[in-house]
Amino acid sequence: MLLDNEEKAMLDGAHGTAKRKAMELLVKYGNALGAEKLIKTDNVVGTVGMATPFVRDYALKPGGLDAAFSEFNLDSDETIETPEFEAFTCQVIHGIDTEHWEQQGGAKEVADLQKRGEAHFGRRGVNMMGTCTPYQVGNVPVMGQHCAWMESSAVVYCNSVLGARTNTEGRESTGAASVTARIPYWGLHIPENRSATHRIDVEFDVDDMMDWGLLGYWVGHVVQDDIPLLAGVKSQPNMMKLKHFGAAAASSGGVELFHIPGATPEATSIEAITRPGRALATLKYGAKERREAYDMLNAGAHEKKVDFIMLGCPHDSIEQIRRAAQLLDGKHIDPSVQLWIFTPRSIKSVADRSGYTKIIRDAGAWLMSDTCPAIGRVAPKGTKVVATDSAKQSHYLPAILGVEAWFGSIEECVDAALTGRWNGGLK
Ligand code: F3S
Repeated sequence: MLLDNEEKAMLDGAHGTAKRKAMELLVKYGNALGAEKLIKTDNVVGTVGMATPFVRDYALKPGGLDAAFSEFNLDSDETIETPEFEAFTCQVIHGIDTEHWEQQGGAKEVADLQKRGEAHFGRRGVNMMGTCTPYQVGNVPVMGQHCAWMESSAVVYCNSVLGARTNTEGRESTGAASVTARIPYWGLHIPENRSATHRIDVEFDVDDMMDWGLLGYWVGHVVQDDIPLLAGVKSQPNMMKLKHFGAAAASSGGVELFHIPGATPEATSIEAITRPGRALATLKYGAKERREAYDMLNAGAHEKKVDFIMLGCPHDSIEQIRRAAQLLDGKHIDPSVQLWIFTPRSIKSVADRSGYTKIIRDAGAWLMSDTCPAIGRVAPKGTKVVATDSAKQSHYLPAILGVEAWFGSIEECVDAALTGRWNGGLK
């Protein structure tokens, strides 16, 4: 891999041990990927979270947080003092909500360690957004900007809706990117790799959030890690719908980029997002395919009595919280269930000020931040049956928590919270 003089100096140790270790990692990683060079990045979404058991064990050893960062973010056995980060860096979702760890059944020591970690890494330049939706709370890279982001739903949003460029990075590569402001130039950083491979003719009128989730789940299932172009979409999707679509497509498949003419910025025309001479695989999405997606998502759910209702995957926007508050206003959830809604903490503060949090709490539900059941493995004790409006959460929770999961609309989920039963179905 070709390195410029500054990169060579980092590799030689001229800029300190942390940069040397980070550059060694990036060179190994880039060579393994066949990357021709590194590219500068000033937008990293990674993690320095301390809640995961194996990271926690390191953080409690001599060397503490620096030892954990060295091992898990720089792949270094040698403990290196965490440097000031070179690149603008945001913390993705955490493993624990340090304000609601008790409700989530967490341990105080873990919450305390997490807070210590936030202070330590915050001082070195990690912006503690604590969400899988950094684009909802101020990290909005521009079209063409080279980024290094983790988290599949964030990656697909970054590439598709913002038109910025990132591959799906990991804890180690984002750690090295934060320290050096570099990432290997390969995959979706390269313009020629961003053309569509599949054309999906959307014949069903996809409009509400649930339908965007179903469409995303079906598209991910059929294209896997290829690049779909959706043609014929009649209703203009907003941020929330595209967020749900991408998260679903990145769950049933590995979609990192999609194009929708009229909605996503690179799709100025079909020609702009297709490669001359390359035939697209063409598929159609109609009522039959919609039913297939719904059945796949609900395949493992049988018990109508629910225990836990989860909203906010990907983390909710303020509009979604308002909708939940409207549905819960003046009511109380069934005493046998719990309803948890997840949102970035800075959006929660807007919900607090707008009175939505109080409505939600008065109804017996919780508005939480920083984590989610799939990442934090948090759910009310004894949960066997979950209801959620998220295709992604519905896809992962049966495997992660060993539960049954119903997928439906927010209205159906709130109804399940109020009645204790799943009454949803495809209309
Ligand atoms: Fe975010 Fe967790 Fe869903 S990371 S996308 S809320 S699975």
